[in-house]
Amino acid sequence: EKPLEIAALLLTWYDQNKRDLPWRRTNDPYTVWLSEIMLQQTRVDTVIDYYRRFLERFPDICSLADADEEDVLTLWKGLGYYRRARNLHQAAITVRDRYAGNFPRTFPEIRALPGIGDYTAGAIASIAYNLPYPAVDGNVLRVATRLLGLEDDISQQKIQKQIAEIIEEMIPKERAGDFTQALMELGAMCCTPNTPGCRDCPWRTVCTAHRTHRETVLPVKKKA
Ligand code: ADE
Repeated sequence: EKPLEIAALLLTWYDQNKRDLPWRRTNDPYTVWLSEIMLQQTRVDTVIDYYRRFLERFPDICSLADADEEDVLTLWKGLGYYRRARNLHQAAITVRDRYAGNFPRTFPEIRALPGIGDYTAGAIASIAYNLPYPAVDGNVLRVATRLLGLEDDISQQKIQKQIAEIIEEMIPKERAGDFTQALMELGAMCCTPNTPGCRDCPWRTVCTAHRTHRETVLPVKKKA
């Protein structure tokens, strides 16, 4: 199948099955950014309440920038990985001082903010601005590996980069942000690590791993 047809199957499934999560109700770059930072190391169920409380206290970037770091950390208490909160606060200060409080609109500027790597920059650029950048995390690596039947070790940087390039080519230009979230949703709800729900998968007819019964073997991950 062609990349765009494969993307279309996924988007149709996403439209019909996506969860109504609080950060899916807006494209505001601040809330997209906050949700992606929280979701990096924390499960969706846990994030929801923290996300709501955080936005109630700091509804926009400048209120966050103006806060004391201590107060930001207090709101983060229980989420762990406190470095995320410190970077978030520092990045808010940068956006306030360098961009007059307006979140930057290009991938290189977004990527340069503290605490934002390739994954988060791709997620924000695509979800907030519909720019055609991939956001490849562990879930997306698993989904792509199975779809394509890749037997390579996904702990290798080189392989991750190859997968990111393939995903980038699949992005439907009109719906880059939905495509990013649809890949995450497929990884979370259907193409799960141990017992994937292939019967309900939008890619069951085009997935190499499913066709060859390799879905529980893939992805191969050598490093711990
Ligand atoms: N995990 C990472 N980003 C996510 C998102 N936007 N929605 C659901 N799960 C996610």
